Amino acid sequence: MTITAHRNLKKSTVTTPSVAFEPQGAPASAPASVVTWVKEIAALTKPDAIHWCDGSPREWDQLTKLMVDNGTLTRLNAEHRPYSFLARSDPNDVARVEARTFICSVDEADAGPTNNWRDPSEMRKTLTGLFEGSMRGRTMFVIPFSMGPLGSPLAKLGVQVTDSPYVVASMGIMTRMGSAALALIGDDTEWVPAVHSVGAPLLESEKDVPWPSNETKYITHFPETREIWSFGSAYGGNALLAKKSFALRIASVIARDEGWLAEHMLILKVTNPRGRVFHLAAAFPSACGKTNLAMLKPSIPGWKVETIGDDIAWLRPGADGRLRAINPEAGFFGVAPGTSAQTNSTAIDTIWGNTIFTNVALREDGDVWWEGLTDKAPDNLTDWQGNPYDPASGRPAAHPNSRFTVAASQCPTIADTWDDPNGVVIDAIIFGGRRRSNVPLVVEARDWNHGVFMGANISSERTAAAEGTVGELRRDPFAMMPFCGYNMADHWAHWLKIGDNLRGTASLPRIFQVNWFRRGDDGRFLWPGFAENSRVLAWILERVDGQVAADETPIGLVPTPTGIDRAGLEITDEDFTELFEIDNAKWLDELDDTEKFFSRFGDRLPEEIVNQLDTAREKLRAR
Ligand code: GTP
Ligand code: SPV
Ligand code: MN
Repeated sequence: MTITAHRNLKKSTVTTPSVAFEPQGAPASAPASVVTWVKEIAALTKPDAIHWCDGSPREWDQLTKLMVDNGTLTRLNAEHRPYSFLARSDPNDVARVEARTFICSVDEADAGPTNNWRDPSEMRKTLTGLFEGSMRGRTMFVIPFSMGPLGSPLAKLGVQVTDSPYVVASMGIMTRMGSAALALIGDDTEWVPAVHSVGAPLLESEKDVPWPSNETKYITHFPETREIWSFGSAYGGNALLAKKSFALRIASVIARDEGWLAEHMLILKVTNPRGRVFHLAAAFPSACGKTNLAMLKPSIPGWKVETIGDDIAWLRPGADGRLRAINPEAGFFGVAPGTSAQTNSTAIDTIWGNTIFTNVALREDGDVWWEGLTDKAPDNLTDWQGNPYDPASGRPAAHPNSRFTVAASQCPTIADTWDDPNGVVIDAIIFGGRRRSNVPLVVEARDWNHGVFMGANISSERTAAAEGTVGELRRDPFAMMPFCGYNMADHWAHWLKIGDNLRGTASLPRIFQVNWFRRGDDGRFLWPGFAENSRVLAWILERVDGQVAADETPIGLVPTPTGIDRAGLEITDEDFTELFEIDNAKWLDELDDTEKFFSRFGDRLPEEIVNQLDTAREKLRAR
């Protein structure tokens, strides 16, 4: 296995002194716009020191040393997991908090009925109160970053300030961060400001806790001024503001205004047995299989799958009229539970070292463990909260939303074009969700507009990625419910418009819907999933390549009975048939629910979406 580590692996950690960061002025190269803003935020939040991040290996060593010393990180046993760390969060800060996530557009209707809206000036007042002195006793880090390859015409710049070293280290993996990004910000360059505080000022006499946070949480977005303010949490999407807050919520608004798309999608490169290369983008809700599909090892001969991104895609119509995509991120913040050599050996190879694990269990030998990594839990585990693990407790040792943070460049299947500044041409788009019933293994949309309707109609069972009841079915159109920075119905209209603009110039990507999660009456998964999903990808790409026929159904095109390669697959004919069963009555019920959901958007709902709903009903009733 060849591995390119993105950081210098010299053990300089041993000699780096364990000091807090020295107070530091702005680098000479810092543009006035950034310097002024940093001063303003410092005047409000009153940190003890300011550190401008350069993104160097030395800085990484200093940060991780500091966090080991103050108990935020535990260094893992280097024999098993070199240059890697375990972070245990506060038990009340373990996932995205959607109820505390706000879109503060000037007009409430622009946030739409599925976002929490607050009046921007009211919210500014609230935030000013919260951030006043919120960094006392702490260092404020300034993190310049690029979303997308440095200097790419498809990339965007941002600057996050934070008082959490954990956030700095994570941003160092997840984005192109430091001096190189700062150098791209000139006096006229647009950049997105993002303010983050854990909201736990330290008085002189106070001892810090390993994971400072605040019960009060606000993850707020100002779409018109393209600003982000986040308070109280240091976990994942709440705190790594380049990710969901910028690359999805704010970027989706920029994309709406500029004619492109910012989506919750993985990006894959697939080569078929005849040597033709395709690129796919797929939107699945949180913890519904994007990382796994992005790292898929095909079980069928002759097909090759390479990784470009696992969570976010920025798609833009190119001069040739084709949709091109980049992965704006530089790392993976992947779900740990369920990841194993059997389900996702690529991920297992990726996280060999240089990895930050958060809220997983710790083994006696100083390595990590989580549910699903091996069949049986090893003896003498320490659970994610730092207590001896009792397997009889019935509780998991790793938190269900525990994650690994690792550089994309460490992924052995990363495509050589993954950081191509011009992106890759997208041939097919897939929507998916976690559905125990109704939704077939794969369906092809009749055309772009039907595909947009499919995306708008996605619902999925809740996962541990956000607070809420796991398993509950909820609407998650385009897998963007928690991430669209504007009115969701306008998002559908935007997709329809992109289709109108591209149609006729070149071939539009074909659109499909998949469901790996259908279950039998006894609750077992009907489809083996993981590597076997390559059989579904193969069918999708043979459709794109014009090689296979499909059968029409009221909800779209499905494989003919022999369309999916089943050679070597252990699945009964009954299960396979059930995977494709379309129950008219249940689908009509589902469309009633869809209509109810759509009605929440009032006159913002595009007429074409209503037409699609009518057509779907007619086709189901006619069968
Ligand atoms: P976010 O990072 O939250 O956006 O999630 P994601 O979509 O990248 O989810 P991920 O790939 O990490 O998958 C989440 C869970 O789904 C893991 O526990 C996986 O093991 C499980 N999973 C992924 N693919 C399959 C599949 O094909 N079948 C089944 N049964 N489970 C799967
Ligand atoms: C998701 O919830 O979709 C994630 C994890 O990718 S987080 O970055 O925490 O939002
Ligand atoms: Mn995600």
